[in-house]
Amino acid sequence: MDFKLTDEQQMIQAAARDFAEQQIAPVAAEHDVSGTFPLANIEAMGELGLMGIEVPEAYGGAGLDTIGYVLAMIEVSAADAAHGTIMSVNNSLFCNGILKYGTEAQKSTYVKAIASGEKIGAYALSEPQSGSDASSMKSRAVLSDDGSHYIINARKSWITSGPHARYLVLFASTNPEAGAKGISAFIIDTQTDGFSRGKTEPKLGIRASATCEIELSDYRCPVENRLGEEGEGFKIAMSVLDAGRIGIAAQAVGIAQAAYKASVSYARDRKAFGQEIGSFQMIQSKLADMKTRLEAARLLTLRAAWAKMEADKTGQRITLDGSMAKLFASEAAMWIAHQAVQLHGGMGYSKEMPVERYFRDAKITEIYEGTSEIQRLVIARTETGLR
Ligand code: CAA
Repeated sequence: MDFKLTDEQQMIQAAARDFAEQQIAPVAAEHDVSGTFPLANIEAMGELGLMGIEVPEAYGGAGLDTIGYVLAMIEVSAADAAHGTIMSVNNSLFCNGILKYGTEAQKSTYVKAIASGEKIGAYALSEPQSGSDASSMKSRAVLSDDGSHYIINARKSWITSGPHARYLVLFASTNPEAGAKGISAFIIDTQTDGFSRGKTEPKLGIRASATCEIELSDYRCPVENRLGEEGEGFKIAMSVLDAGRIGIAAQAVGIAQAAYKASVSYARDRKAFGQEIGSFQMIQSKLADMKTRLEAARLLTLRAAWAKMEADKTGQRITLDGSMAKLFASEAAMWIAHQAVQLHGGMGYSKEMPVERYFRDAKITEIYEGTSEIQRLVIARTETGLR
């Protein structure tokens, strides 16, 4: 076993860190308060290769590996989790699925546009009445009589980057009687008739990442924009989420890292009862537990990234690795951010310091791309083989 990073992995980590420190961190609080989407930064991140890290250069990406992606996600999310959210959807949920299941034409057109940062991508699975129970979706796609296109009627919720996305990977049933095996995946152009957006959701955290409902009403999707075979959609949705969850685990590590770093610095500077608070054992105990959970989360996330790199060669599933990394890292981030607020006392509750933002941002990592409850269900089902 070798924990050393390759030259390329160190290079993308350093590039992401530099950009995050210089361009993201200074505007993070402002975007959090205003809730404005950081379009200029996202375009610049595309130019740096951060919007398609694992995408081959031929399709507009950086051509690096999953460990490189995780390292960059940690750096970006440590500066601002909302930038991390947008980055993870473009990389994991949009590009990854089309690279794995798409045709050459789909990769050349859609992956290229998103990986280069020229356009923004999104992933539409959840519906108003189906979140965790994803296969019970109501959205329908019906093949036209001449077989040239699908007529899609769909209502999807919680679409990250929805207000700004040009293309989406969307799931709808082509055969409702077949349940999960009747679901198919489609690439949707948001500039086509029949597509509309609902209001942007006001959110607790990751406020600069825009989220909305979308609706497709008699939307005509050319048959060549179906992703994979008919009925293969649920498998595509789940395997894309297996990889997506590694990105969310990395985002959680980034938030936890920022909360921990702020706490160490505050413990060194802040004085009470005549000494630095970091010399009190109750604060030391918090810092020791925060650091240990942070590094355990980082290792589990990097191991899941390595598992994905192996699986890309063997075709094996990484369901267990992705779920364990996301479950542990997201709960560690929430716990660490909670400790950070407590350790900062009144200043932890104030918008003058970023720890209250870390606390609000950490919460979403326990919810999206499968709640902690769903990750526990997936892990236990995989281990026992029982349902
Ligand atoms: N990879 C490949 N195939 C998979 C799979 C995976 N990870 N998981 C399931 N499948 C296959 C199964 O093998 C099964 O096929 P077979 O019958 O041929 O074996 C089929 O899919 C159905 O599987 P299940 O019976 O296990 O399906 P289920 O209805 O019981 O659901 C679930 C399982 C784990 C609960 C799943 O629905 C799930 O993960 N739910 C959570 C959904 C989720 O994460 N939503 C997040 C929304 S996206 C988001 O948050 C994006 C954002 O904007 C940031």
